[in-house]
Amino acid sequence: MTEQHAQPHERRILGTELLWAFGVGVLIAAILSMVVFTALTRDINPPSNVERIDPKTLHLSGEFAEQNLGTTARDGGVTVRIITTQFMFAPHCLVVPEGRRVTLRFASPDVIHGILITGTNVNTMVVPGFVAQVYSEFTHSGDLLMPCHEYCGLGHSEMWATVRVVPESEFKPDRDGRVACAQH
Ligand code: CUA
Repeated sequence: MTEQHAQPHERRILGTELLWAFGVGVLIAAILSMVVFTALTRDINPPSNVERIDPKTLHLSGEFAEQNLGTTARDGGVTVRIITTQFMFAPHCLVVPEGRRVTLRFASPDVIHGILITGTNVNTMVVPGFVAQVYSEFTHSGDLLMPCHEYCGLGHSEMWATVRVVPESEFKPDRDGRVACAQH
């Protein structure tokens, strides 16, 4: 008797399992297509720049020395260099031109921080020992908030900076190609 009842029962189990497998398959396909869609249309990608830097000495010389931090416009390109540290950004305010591709480079001397710029595709972790590099084009002028979004210690909630997007006509680098918030 048990033999006769077992078969329809097992078919029902198989049916339920296939239904769940189908549902999960649809979900995975939806998530993957969202990833591909945002990558192609909104320029949202996982940060893939692998570049090492010594966290103990990055502030002493080279591109992350104090005099090189902030915005530099040179040879038609705009690069912003920022140190993320407990519990501040250096510099605390940075200027970028509207409607131009900007390279943002971050480095951390202490712990892992995370940064995002509200309303843009900029969102990355900053891991000590590596330079985090992202690109963006800012479409509207105005001030944007750049908070730290990776818990980094007691002062985490105080860690934020301002990104000042200015129209191209107001973006005026000095002789060394430098642009700072104090000028704006
Ligand atoms: Cu830095 Cu949270």
